Amino acid sequence: MPITYLSTRGGETGLRFEQVVLGGLAKDKGLYIPESIPKMSIKEIEMMRSMTYSQLAYKVICQFVDSSDIPSENLKDIVNRSFSKFRHDDVTPTIKKDNYWVLELFHGPTFAFKDVALQFLGNIFEYFLEKGNIQNKITILGATSGDTGSAAIHGLRGKKNVNCFILYPTGKVTTIQEKQMTSILDENVQCISLPTDFDGCQAIVKSAFADEDFRNEVKLGAINSINWARVLAQITYYFYSWLRATDAMDPNHIPKLSFVVPTGNFGDILAGYYAKQMGLPVDKLVVATNTNDVLHRFLESGSYRKDPSIVTIAPSMDISVSSNFERYLFYLAGNATTLKRWMDEFESTGVLKVNDTILKKAKEDFSSSSCNEKQIIDTMVEEYQRQSYWVCPHTATAVYAIEKLNLSAPTTICLATAHPAKFEQAVRMTMSRVGVTELPKRPDPLEQLFSMSTRSTTLRASLPSVQAFMRRTMEPSLHRMENALSFVGGSIGADVGAWFDENPTYSWLSTFATLSVLGYFMMSHIQLKNR
Ligand SMILES: Cc1ncc(COP(=O)(O)O)c(C=O)c1O
Repeated sequence: MPITYLSTRGGETGLRFEQVVLGGLAKDKGLYIPESIPKMSIKEIEMMRSMTYSQLAYKVICQFVDSSDIPSENLKDIVNRSFSKFRHDDVTPTIKKDNYWVLELFHGPTFAFKDVALQFLGNIFEYFLEKGNIQNKITILGATSGDTGSAAIHGLRGKKNVNCFILYPTGKVTTIQEKQMTSILDENVQCISLPTDFDGCQAIVKSAFADEDFRNEVKLGAINSINWARVLAQITYYFYSWLRATDAMDPNHIPKLSFVVPTGNFGDILAGYYAKQMGLPVDKLVVATNTNDVLHRFLESGSYRKDPSIVTIAPSMDISVSSNFERYLFYLAGNATTLKRWMDEFESTGVLKVNDTILKKAKEDFSSSSCNEKQIIDTMVEEYQRQSYWVCPHTATAVYAIEKLNLSAPTTICLATAHPAKFEQAVRMTMSRVGVTELPKRPDPLEQLFSMSTRSTTLRASLPSVQAFMRRTMEPSLHRMENALSFVGGSIGADVGAWFDENPTYSWLSTFATLSVLGYFMMSHIQLKNR
């Protein structure tokens, strides 16, 4: 029997891995999940103890990918290449601390856990596009509040047949995050700065996907965490860290371990749920949220309610709903018909209420805690004072949960999702309290960003302006002019051009505007030199 997938809302069944990865979101607006979850016995898990990270990753991933989709030798090659750019031999090392094990997920190119999934996804895209069974090119359009964009760009840079456009809100990502994106000068990558906030960027992405003609014309694809391949890649580090944390234990008496996971869109922790369903001896999966606590409230009360998101010091978890939660709700509902009814209700009222039996079932797998700004900073301070270990503000929500829920040290693994150097503002807030006067030295690759050339284009925050830029960029002759413009005239010039793009009738005027601005800047330059 081949390995197949279905949509959580039941509109599509019997899909292949390739369709699911290239499709991103199901046509009925559901999310793709495997039709059945493969199982591993404890003996099979033990047999993976001596494997390297990449060997183990292949062993886990191949259970979800039919060999007729990707033959095993190709899949092994994809997996090996995906983790070759990590700076640690263990890829995601598991380290013993005083009061927990920490699974450090920030040793990839952009110092955040998303590298694990996006390095893999980039290679998978390239493989399927080269085969060309379904399509032979893809245009990725994503919005970012900082971290996803850089991880996506690093996963997709230089990939054949892939164009990547990342929208970010001007002035609302950290300097390091912006440099991580804009210092990538590969032809197939474009960073677009928009004078709006993250929701404004996200709204443009959504409208671009809703524009069916445009979607088909450029073969639009998504890299956000609803893509199944991202969840799949993340399952592996649950197995790997479980094995590392139990290496020194008596093999006949290994207890179940709990994983504490900083959570926003429920993607990372969902991978832990699949690991548990596959047979990994897991006790609790602990949802650790910041004040955006929609998941914590659900696990407390059985009511899943969309509230406006709040800006916090752990910004990558600032969400109002968790886009991957639907996958878990499918398992709670037990079938696609019930799930669809739940989602319809949620989409029309903004609330979903489950009964006590269902809530009890959820509590068998998950527990939760939420953490406010003060608690995040206090936890960062305490961790540094206790064991000279800086945690990023997202990881701090998980460390806080360990204390709050009184989890036991030898059997608890805390996921550290980003390097603290990416969130210097939060680290700065702790410095006076821990008696440190200077920021900790940045890792070399982050320091080097400050002397690298960068490229970014500022556009008006509107769909026509973004669409026009994407079309121009993918049309080589126009692209050269655009590059010249951003080089000489920077954001002002691009913005003028984009203004005209918003009305396609006047598209030739945009070319004229581009040349005028170019000329203007050249003239000013000459005048300045002659003074
Ligand atoms: C540093 C960091 N930690 C935690 C999370 C939450 O992960 P998820 O959205 O998969 O729950 C994110 C997501 O963007 C993140 O960037």
